Amino acid sequence: MQDKIDKILKTYLCQIEKAESSNEILNLRVKIFGKSGEFTELLKGLKDVDAGLRPQFGKILNDAKVSLENKLNAKEDMFKKFELNLKLNNEKIDITLPGKKPNVGSLHPLMLVKNEVVNIFTALGFTVVDGPEIELDYYNFQALNMPKDHPARDMQDSFYINENIVLRSQTSPMQIRAMETMGVPLRILCPGRVYRSDDDATHSPMFHQIEGLVVDKNITMRDLKGVLDEFAKKLFDSDTKTRLRPSYFPFTEPSVEVDLSCAICKGKGCRLCKGTGWMEILGAGMVNRRVLKNCKIDPDVYSGFAFGMGIERIAMIKYGIPDMRMLFENDKRFLEQFK
Ligand code: DAH
Repeated sequence: MQDKIDKILKTYLCQIEKAESSNEILNLRVKIFGKSGEFTELLKGLKDVDAGLRPQFGKILNDAKVSLENKLNAKEDMFKKFELNLKLNNEKIDITLPGKKPNVGSLHPLMLVKNEVVNIFTALGFTVVDGPEIELDYYNFQALNMPKDHPARDMQDSFYINENIVLRSQTSPMQIRAMETMGVPLRILCPGRVYRSDDDATHSPMFHQIEGLVVDKNITMRDLKGVLDEFAKKLFDSDTKTRLRPSYFPFTEPSVEVDLSCAICKGKGCRLCKGTGWMEILGAGMVNRRVLKNCKIDPDVYSGFAFGMGIERIAMIKYGIPDMRMLFENDKRFLEQFK
């Protein structure tokens, strides 16, 4: 037994000394102390030793075990430190290298214009409300005084989901929903996406509108004109003028088309305003008595005005964008100009 112990000590202390990595140390540990390692086998043999000699051999074995383990641990520690240093050195970061600039996004020009319009009207006391894009025919048309056979429906070539459900073709249905749920008096602004079967340089099948509605006692066309004058001055500059032309919408009576003096030539006539000095910006009017009645509001007590405008058109004028499709192509070179 003593010989075996000496042999194991001699071979393994030497092998441990020669080991060149923590992996080799691990392998040696298994070879010595593993389930069928040489030292483990020796330990198993202890039971066959004479009972009288057993304590003596037990001590010798234990001393051998301690010295082998100490040697293994010391070597392993050394390798671990060395390997960690190596790893740290390899992973060293050169903080003097120039960094990579992250791409910072920016608001889409349509959102910039929407926010601007919303800010102007909320400063005038309007509340922003939201509504569904998939809308009942009732809200999109019927309640707005456009029954099923109404010729004005042809003005808005709509996407139908079924006979009674449509992708809203205007933000006006939100007027009805607001009157139904919020009642009077009312001063709301409804920005949102709308859909029509149209696609060319000045039309897109999906576009954005902002709708405004005020209902209260004694609301007149002067209020409409006053609010829109203020809006025009804030949106462009303080000498911007508004002009109302008679028009027709089923949900307003009387109805007007609202022009703003041209933002570029200030009314002299240029390419943007096609030489007229005026830009057509929105539709508006006094809420039709029938629409108020549809929302259970007494038209003999209450009156209101409404207006609706296309956000794309305003963005095109404000930023000089020649083709509406540029707003939807998501070309980064275009979008980056609005940072
Ligand atoms: N909904 C109309 C359209 O899409 C725009 C409009 C005109 C809205 C007059 C209004 C309004 O509220 O009073 O063409």
